[in-house]
This record gives sequence, C-alpha cells and structure tokens, in this order.
Amino acid sequence: MFYNSYLLVILHYVLYVSAATYNWNVGWQTENPDGLQPRPVIAINGQWPPPTLYANVGDTVTIYLKNGLGNETTGMHFHGLFQNGTASMDGPTQVTQCPIGPGETFTYTFQVNQPGTYWYHSHNGGQYPDGFRGALIIHDPSIPYQYDKEEVLVLSDWYHSQIPDLIPGFLSTTANPHGAEPVPNSALLNDNPTTSFSIRPGKTYLFRIINVSNFASFLLKFDQHQMAIIEVDGVYTVKQSTDLIYITAGQRYSVLITAKATAPGQNYAFVGAMDPDMFDCYPCSNVPLNATGYLVYDSSKPLPNSEPTFPSYTSGFYDDFSLVPYDKQPLLGPVTKRITFNVESGTYFNQNRFAINGNSYVEPKVPTLYTVLDAGHEATNPAIYGQYANPYIISHNDIVEIVVNNGDSGGHPIHMHGHNFQMVERSPPFTTPHKYSGTPTTTPPATPVRRDVMKVQASGYLVYRFRADNPGVWAFHCHIDWHLTAGFFATIIEAPLALQAQSIPANHIQACKHQHLPYRGNAAGNTHNYTDLTGANNAPPVYNTGAYCGNCKPS
Ligand code: C2O
Repeated sequence: MFYNSYLLVILHYVLYVSAATYNWNVGWQTENPDGLQPRPVIAINGQWPPPTLYANVGDTVTIYLKNGLGNETTGMHFHGLFQNGTASMDGPTQVTQCPIGPGETFTYTFQVNQPGTYWYHSHNGGQYPDGFRGALIIHDPSIPYQYDKEEVLVLSDWYHSQIPDLIPGFLSTTANPHGAEPVPNSALLNDNPTTSFSIRPGKTYLFRIINVSNFASFLLKFDQHQMAIIEVDGVYTVKQSTDLIYITAGQRYSVLITAKATAPGQNYAFVGAMDPDMFDCYPCSNVPLNATGYLVYDSSKPLPNSEPTFPSYTSGFYDDFSLVPYDKQPLLGPVTKRITFNVESGTYFNQNRFAINGNSYVEPKVPTLYTVLDAGHEATNPAIYGQYANPYIISHNDIVEIVVNNGDSGGHPIHMHGHNFQMVERSPPFTTPHKYSGTPTTTPPATPVRRDVMKVQASGYLVYRFRADNPGVWAFHCHIDWHLTAGFFATIIEAPLALQAQSIPANHIQACKHQHLPYRGNAAGNTHNYTDLTGANNAPPVYNTGAYCGNCKPS
C-alpha cells in the first residue's frame, strides 16, 4: 500500500512538475506529403511530420537543437510563449540570437507557465514552410472544461518548391511586377492529404487546431457536428458554439466536439479550405484548395464522398472579435503609450517589399537583444538599434495601444511575441485604405478577446492593447512568411533597462563566435560609440532575379 501511494506521488510529480528534455537534430530528408511531388523537407531526428512537443504547466523545457542541415543556418521559436524572464530563449534570429550554424548545437531552456495550444517553428529567414514547424501542447491539470479525449489537427498550406528557391523571384520587381506571393500547391491535414479521427458515440473530443501555413488562412467545418470554441491562442474563452471557423497562419483554436449520442451508422467529413483571397492565380483551378478529413464512427462503413459546404470565404464564420476570455480580464486602460504602425506594400530597395512607417525591416548586424544588454543607459535610445530594425521602445508597465493601419489591399495576420493582446477595435475590409481616427467608432468590449495573432482586414485597421510587464525584445510581424521576409517586421524593445537584469547564456554567444558574427555593440557592432551606426546594414540582401513561379507553371 505504502509503496503504491508513494509511486503515485512520484508519478504526479513527473506529470505535473518536471523537466521535459529533448535532443533534436534537424536535417533534410525527402517527403511527399500531398502525394503529388516528393521534395526535401526539414525533419527532426529523421521524423516528419515533425513530432508534437508536449509539456505540462510548470515544466522546464530544454531543447538541445543540433543544426544538421549542412547548407542553411537555423533557429527555433516557441510561438505564443511569453518567455517572461527568459528573453534570450525566444528564437528569432538577429532579434534575440545569432543564427545557428551548420553542425552547431544550441540550447533552449525555459519554464512554461501558460496552458494551451501553441506551436514551434524556425524563425530564421523564410525557413519554417520547408517543414520545420509543429504543434506544442501545454497540458493544464485545471483546464476549466471537460472532455474525454484530445486530438491535434494541424492545418497547412504546402509548396512543391523550397522557399529559398522562391524568395528571389517573389521579391523581384522585374520577374514579378505585381508582387504576387507564390501560391501553395496544396492543403494538408496533419501533413497528409487527408486524416481521420476515430469517434465513439457520446464522447466529447477536444480538438486543438493549429494553422502552421506560410500563407493561407483556412476555413474549417465539420459536417453535422458543432464546434464549441474554448481556447484561442492559449487563452481560455467562454464556450462559444459555431459550425465554421476562420483561422489565419499562426492562429490556434481549441474546440469541443460532442459525438452523436448513439451510433449514427455512418461517418462524417470535415473540410479545411484555404481562403484564395490573396492567391493571385485566383480562381486557382489547378490548386486543390480543400483538404477533406473524416470523423469515423464505424470503420466498416464507407467514408462520405462529399465534403461540408460553407457559404463564402468572407462570411458565415465566427468573428473572433466577439469571443470573451474565460477570466473576463477587463479592458486595459488608460493607455500610456500608443504606437501607430502604418503598413504599406510597394517597391523598397528595388524589391517587392512591405514597410512599416516607411521603413522596410533589415536585420541588424548584432541581435537587438544583445545590443540592449550591452548598451547601459544608452539602451533607451532607439537610434542605437539602427533605423532599419524598426525599433520602438516602451517603458516597463506601460499600457500600450498598438494601431495597425493596413495600407495594403490584402488582409494580414498580425503577430507579436512576448504577449497576447486585447482586441479593442477592428475595422471591416475596405477597398481604399482607412486609418484609425484615434477614437473607437464603437464602444470597445468590456472584456476583450485576447490572442497573439489577429487579422487586420484589407485596407482596414486594428487596435489592440497589452501591459508592458515582460521586459524583452519582441518581434512584431505579419505571420505570412513571405511578408516577414519582405520586411513586414518591427522590433518592440520593452523595458530595456529592466531587461538588463537578464543575461545571455555562453552557449548562445558561441553560436555567434563560431560564425564570426558580432554579438556586442550597437546595430553596426560598434562598441565604443553607440550612436555611430557606420557600417550598419542599410539594405536587405540582393538576390539574383530568379524566374517568378509560385504556382504559375506545372511543377
Ligand atoms: Cu510564429 Cu514571429 O512567430
């Protein structure tokens, strides 16, 4: 008896307060996930689809990441984790670390205090759509909803070409005069053309849905089964029923699906449909926009041969602005710092690019976090980070309001690291750019939805708030990886003097040293005069103008 309860205590300890340690080696291997075209993908320990990373609230997660790619650098980000106190573990290269060179091993270690549905992905160049992205699930012993079984559903667009082969043509103003993004070749469900979940009558299933796409937003609908939304981007919500959700690149939804009470004697289809709104091949007759999966009650019965339909790509889905967080956190205020980001697309540096307040992001020579930690009292001067890093400084415990005025005719999934944020106002789409007036047109919600990726509509605006309680250097960007690559990126430098209490592990400095990359000084690597930016990067890399392809010719 004693022995058994002792074991239980140990088991409990292992399950809920423990360390999760992973040795991950990333390397190339050939896969053919849509069955249409074999191609090299980035696998983890020879495994692809990549493994789901599981942890429990309170765990310390440690990943020894070895770059076995040979021909590319890498880096890893844990999307949605705040990294409060561990800013150096956030992962975007040239923001919080140097790129990890071929053959190097880099250590990420941090405690997870947030329950819910997250994902991990490379944050180095345009690398994650080549396969280095997967689910990250943090279990919570006190999750406020009950269910019988949990499933993970990863939605993704998929390209037959490797991203570095597509970037030059995409950016080229001569090969691609309209700046059209390469269109994906297919849609995947759990990195396959289709996927099935086995369902028992009367049971309730928690589906953790993650869109890990490079580009596409998805609509998701289950035939004759309602979804009850209970979490968005790691934030529990008041339960909300719907039969159609819209999920942009980077976003997550957890939904409860309650099975039919008695055996229905049939199986049901669900559809993940890529929104072709921004696909310049529209109507994309050669792109399979939809992927169909199944809820299987009885494997001896046939699978349905049609998929559920939905009214349109622009309406009929649940508007995430209307969600209410389970904790009913009140609207933050009064605002002590407002930052306005005016976003434009156009020609910058002779490339098809995006700019924020006139500046198209260019990586600094020194990771911005390293500049903060090296700069003493000068860390509060935005000039030292270089104009092209798009640096914005906020003070500790500011109530920050960010206004995104989208001057582009496409909608964008807006993401920021280090926080989730309250959605205060979102305009509808417009055909000509509309800027936020500075005062809300409708009363903001008393308990606004919080998430970490929010769509700003075409030519519209988005207003959100957060409390600056997490010193760090946090990337702000569009989660369409083409757009991030094209300079839709800014650097939020939060509480730089308080941040100086943190330090950089020696292993991270080694990653810089081994590649002869500067890791001290201002954006130019100047350590004696921080305001002297001589030698700073003032343009992005020049690419040879590869032929623009995307999906315009059969591959
Ligand atoms: Cu999914 Cu910069 O992040």
